[in-house]
Amino acid sequence: MKFIEDLDVRHKTVFVRVDFNVPLNDRGEITDDTRIRASLTTIQYLLARGAKLILASHLGRPKKPDPAASLRPVAARLAELLGRNVHMAPDVVGAEVERLKAGLRDGDILLLENVRFHPGETKNDPDLSRALAQGVDIFINDAFGSSHRAHASVVGIAGMVPVKAAGFLMKKEVDFLKKAIDPVKPYVAVLGGAKTEDKIPVIEALLEKADCVLIGGAMAYTFLAAQGRGVGKSLVEPDKFEIALNILKKAKERGVDFRLPVDHVLTASIESGVVTQVVNAYPFPAELMGVDIGPRTVAAYAEIIGRAKTVFWNGPLGVFETPAFAEGTMRIARAVAASSAVTIIGGGDSIAAVAKAGVSDKISHISTGGGASLEFIADGTLPGIEALEG
Ligand code: 3PG
Repeated sequence: MKFIEDLDVRHKTVFVRVDFNVPLNDRGEITDDTRIRASLTTIQYLLARGAKLILASHLGRPKKPDPAASLRPVAARLAELLGRNVHMAPDVVGAEVERLKAGLRDGDILLLENVRFHPGETKNDPDLSRALAQGVDIFINDAFGSSHRAHASVVGIAGMVPVKAAGFLMKKEVDFLKKAIDPVKPYVAVLGGAKTEDKIPVIEALLEKADCVLIGGAMAYTFLAAQGRGVGKSLVEPDKFEIALNILKKAKERGVDFRLPVDHVLTASIESGVVTQVVNAYPFPAELMGVDIGPRTVAAYAEIIGRAKTVFWNGPLGVFETPAFAEGTMRIARAVAASSAVTIIGGGDSIAAVAKAGVSDKISHISTGGGASLEFIADGTLPGIEALEG
């Protein structure tokens, strides 16, 4: 795979796929510009070397043009961060876009509209990829967070340009996440979040590599209920019981220290925002649900994290958006931050959790990819990375 620094970009038209899928509030304002900042190194590098820049990204999941998903606020923020003009294209492809592309001079930036305004994007439609590649000399993929999607502007276009390479963010993400695939041991993975289904491939991959897997979040109740524990009204996925039991069996066979919480913070309702009880026995009272790991679990997990040389964390350990149920996640965030291990965080909610705990700057690598970081760890590559190879 070529890297941006291997290329001569002067006077070239360079198409950069970035992941500017940033959160917007209901007034259409960007509430977190981390993903825009994360690609600045690549953008500034290309501008400083006199490339003509075309940037493309998706924002949200629109099926057709939708002003609420326009990249215009992103163009404005990018212009502010770069201190220079960013031309905004009115569309993804078409005559007007071609005219704007042809008019680019060295050091100019053109941001295309949301690529998902075009239905061909998610279908990896070759006609769309060809149109995107029109007049392009070099394709750079800097969109690690989108590279698990085999879409036209991520994968299809790579086969239709003379030269393709990875950008700085892509390289940094891959270099760090490789440490979670080929880790210095002991390797501890902390997995939380609500849906077991999303995590199954990564848990299975981690059983081959991790010394210890620490489970939290609603996913833990599916594992506990699968073992016949009464977990009251806690969120469980009964259709995943068999898979959960199978994972526990495999963990045992492989000698992986696979931990489930040993105590639980319970509430009558999440909306109440009030802790009803902390328990370390089953069954939970029928009218209560688990919303956080308890203090004994925190202490045990923190001790294991403290002995690790590599830590990968994805998913909160409780309903951390509600202050009364955030303690477990906050204390684990601080334990990860205090660890001398290589610490890697992947996924939107865990990023928000370390930010809330005020320890983001103490983490070795915070991935801009949620789904992408999990798929990379599960498969060792991503469609968007494979498309850059060969
Ligand atoms: C993300 O936010 O994880 C990426 O931008 C991918 O977005 P998607 O899940 O809508 O494809």
